[in-house]
Amino acid sequence: LDQVVRIPVVAHVLWRDEAQNVGDEQIHSQLAVLNADFRRLNEDISAVPEVWRAVAADARVEFFLADTDPAGAPTSGITRTRTEVAAFSPEDDAVKAVATGGADPWPADRYLNMWVCQLAGGVLGYAQFPGGPATTDGVVLLHSALGTNGTAVAPFDGGRTCTHEVGHWLNLRHIWGDDGDGCGGDDFVADTPNQAGPNYGRPTFPTVSCDNGPDGDMFMNFMDYTDDDAMVMFTAGQAARMAATLAGPRAALAA
Ligand code: ARG
Ligand code: ZN
Ligand code: CA
Repeated sequence: LDQVVRIPVVAHVLWRDEAQNVGDEQIHSQLAVLNADFRRLNEDISAVPEVWRAVAADARVEFFLADTDPAGAPTSGITRTRTEVAAFSPEDDAVKAVATGGADPWPADRYLNMWVCQLAGGVLGYAQFPGGPATTDGVVLLHSALGTNGTAVAPFDGGRTCTHEVGHWLNLRHIWGDDGDGCGGDDFVADTPNQAGPNYGRPTFPTVSCDNGPDGDMFMNFMDYTDDDAMVMFTAGQAARMAATLAGPRAALAA
């Protein structure tokens, strides 16, 4: 990206129990994590092993809570909606429409829609890739995996679920290539090592799979499945893929 792109965000909070009605501070803490991670300003970048320091990239994307709503009126960039739904399913996108107990998106060509709610099935979050329907575009986050304070619970209290999901929203694939534990999957990024399956928890370097020694898996990448305090970087190749998305299918947001 020639210029840093600044993306307006709207957070739609869906709550049944009071605790799910997360405070503004928790949402602000999430924006702060996004702005650190996508600019390589996160303090834990120092955890990148020496061998990958040169490919750890500034993606040159920033995020801010929208200050103007779709009608042109001033807004906090946060909507709050009470719901009867105990836990939303990632399968049906009910969270994304008033008619099904959720909240309608703001125009997807002008805002990154972020729904914050209780999610079923132990899912921390999910995202829609570019090119999908505008009515369901955006990212969905479990309230207890949002930001770094309030209801956020370890080991997913570092705001990295949102970093990961926004990576998907900008067209990044999982670093292991989404082929189960095989070695034939591709994330379509040249500077990430070929890796078997997802890593969890806090792996130690090196963790070798698919003949990718001596350095092994880039498990500290935001697009793996490690704990929030173990994922710290995007690569230059991933940044280029995100930039291509902001010059292509999501160009309206970068205008
Ligand atoms: N979509 C993934 C899930 O729900 C997100 C994983 C995010 N990982 C993390 N350490 N925050 O399982
Ligand atoms: Zn993912
Ligand atoms: Ca693989």
